[in-house]
Amino acid sequence: MKTLRVLGIETSCDETSAAVVEGHRDDVALRSLVILSQDVHRLFGGVVPELASRAHLTSVVPVVRRALDDAGVGVRDLDAVAVTHAPGLVGALLVGVSYGKALAHAAGVPLVGAHHMEGHLFATALEHADATPPFTALLVSGGHTLLLDVAAWGDYRLLGATRDDAAGEAFDKVAKLLGLPYPGGRHIERLARTGTPDRHRFARPMVRANQTPADADYYDVSFSGLKTAVLHAVRRAEAEGADALDAERPHLARGFQDALIETLVEKTYRAARAFDRRRVVLGGGVACNGALVAAMRRRLEPRGATVFAPTPRLATDNAAMIARAGLFRLERGETADLSLNAYATLPM
Ligand code: KG4
Ligand code: ZN
Repeated sequence: MKTLRVLGIETSCDETSAAVVEGHRDDVALRSLVILSQDVHRLFGGVVPELASRAHLTSVVPVVRRALDDAGVGVRDLDAVAVTHAPGLVGALLVGVSYGKALAHAAGVPLVGAHHMEGHLFATALEHADATPPFTALLVSGGHTLLLDVAAWGDYRLLGATRDDAAGEAFDKVAKLLGLPYPGGRHIERLARTGTPDRHRFARPMVRANQTPADADYYDVSFSGLKTAVLHAVRRAEAEGADALDAERPHLARGFQDALIETLVEKTYRAARAFDRRRVVLGGGVACNGALVAAMRRRLEPRGATVFAPTPRLATDNAAMIARAGLFRLERGETADLSLNAYATLPM
């Protein structure tokens, strides 16, 4: 089997990233990875699409150059240029897609369009040789919450998703309610460590004892009601004064995080059991949450399933996973031409 070398480019949201991977089939190594996070969005408490596109424009060339240099290769040494073309912010995606096209065309190298969420599925495999299909996957990021059964690479069955807010979005919104900086996930996690469990016991959304796979919400999640419940609890504490609210913040963070985690763990457990999967792969920025990973392990490992989570660098948006997913598509002969377009949404 031929060893392939692929450059990945990722510009779907607020990280400009490039990476080089090398290998074949399930034996792929990361040669370089550069991630430049855009700081400007902090000022606005959320990603501003127009600013994201502009920042990608100024960063994409030096970021790619640096990734190639770090891997010690030139563009002509590549077997393909893989670029995220969906889903994401269209303006942001277009920067990577346009640059990827130009680079591939100028160097006479094949172009591959990569799906951002398929990339998240591949991220963990770069670090854990055993994080390969078949497995149950939970992808939890700022924009997505997807529960999938992965029978083989490229063979994905979507079991459940969020009905409203993504898991990361819920973390970020609740962080805002608690006066924490954006993005708030890791701040909630830190604050929750000093909080008391069950002081605020919020309802676990879409988890009922008598649910069966025939129920439409058996695998789905919903976090907007949980967010509203936290808002009401914040208001109640606030009514007792600023000091009361301040004292309550760790307990509110803990109550929220426990409810969200227990919901995700229950849904993932259901999927692993229904398909008899012995591996569970986590991905996306919320997979950085140590309490989530620990809770998954506590629930699934006694039942014979191994839980794989990527390190934070590969859990959040990065081009290593795009290069890895691109290599898989290249091996299948799925290359793109210069008509490759960017899409805000696209099924996997
Ligand atoms: O995958 P990602 O980097 O970007 C998207 O594609 O959205 O995920 C970012 C999300 C943010 O919502 C952030 O608050 C959340 O991941 N996040 C966390 C943690 N670290 C990042 N959520 C909970 N706990 C964390 N430790
Ligand atoms: Zn992502």
